Amino acid sequence: MSDEKMTAPVEAKPEKKKIILSGIQPTGIFTLGNYIGAVRNWGQLQEDYNCYYFVADLHSLTIRQDPADLRKQSLEAFALLLAAGIDPEKSLVFIQSHVRSHAELGWILACNSMFGELSRMTQFKDKAAKHADNVNAGLFTYPSLMAADILLYQADYVPVGADQTQHLEFTRNVANRFNGIYGNVFKLPEAFLPKEGAKIMSLQDPAKKMSKSDPNPKSRISILDDEDTIMRKFRSAVTDSEAHVCYRDDKPGINNLMTIYSVVTGKTYGQIEAEFEGKGYGDFKTAVGEAVSEELRPIRENFARLIGDKAYLEETYKMGAERAERISGRTLAKVRKKIGLLANPF
Ligand code: TYM
Repeated sequence: MSDEKMTAPVEAKPEKKKIILSGIQPTGIFTLGNYIGAVRNWGQLQEDYNCYYFVADLHSLTIRQDPADLRKQSLEAFALLLAAGIDPEKSLVFIQSHVRSHAELGWILACNSMFGELSRMTQFKDKAAKHADNVNAGLFTYPSLMAADILLYQADYVPVGADQTQHLEFTRNVANRFNGIYGNVFKLPEAFLPKEGAKIMSLQDPAKKMSKSDPNPKSRISILDDEDTIMRKFRSAVTDSEAHVCYRDDKPGINNLMTIYSVVTGKTYGQIEAEFEGKGYGDFKTAVGEAVSEELRPIRENFARLIGDKAYLEETYKMGAERAERISGRTLAKVRKKIGLLANPF
């Protein structure tokens, strides 16, 4: 061995990138809440993490879906993820039902989820009340499937809005229980909430979260709304009668608009208050509308182009499914072995 080789410094092992995973249901065009609370951040995380994102079509079956609409909305949701800046060259993007490990591990985890803990899920209680004629078993075991989505990929962080934190806590509990019984199989993931905008509220009722399923379209901004529609919706946003732009506990409508404005412009609340000192809500709402419309413009344009290129979308989700199947298959094989299922002969 030459001297040179002997004295060569030991190269530091490059640190392995942490894994990020998240999903979104294809139950309609994403809202500004979905975007600010989740999807916008997903794009920003791509440089520093190994990112896996998917369209959670199996989860959407917990509410009755029209088959033709579901097909259309799943493709649109996939296109929206790309349009919003998720780059399939950098991130793994796929459709949940294309990767069979999800349903399989979902079942296995349902057998390790307790009735009591599932009964405590607030989203289950809300949705069961809203769809009283269809309180199906899938709605109840929804969190077990979500745990499977996450645990299959050994995710470190799960970037979500505030409404998903209870499901993340559940995921950690199930993973812990499983690891305790069968040995260490799953990594325990952490929720990753945005500093601001983890819960964007309805424009018509700032006590409620902005939601795709709200029957009043004025309550939400869809990320494909055109400029006029966005301006109109912000102008009719419910605020208060004080006409003073400032962030305060008793001003939920203004707080919500300030959060939205702050996220899209990068301005602090203090800067926003100074900017609108002595001005009325009309000026403020116009500024919020303009900033949001500008932020969403590239998404509208990208989406219009992508949705016309079905072949590209199909090729991209096929590529994603193949990779996701390989990665998730490794965890699933371990799980199957641990719990005593015979090795799959195929
Ligand atoms: P979904 O489709 O309801 O919402 C997708 C993401 O958007 C966030 N979000 C919001 N954030 C801020 N303000 C709002 N008003 C708002 N509304 C929605 C949600 O918190 C979410 O991050 N169960 C999930 C989908 C899912 C999933 C997963 C997520 C399935 N498997 C595994 C993470 C990991 C859901 O229904 O999200």
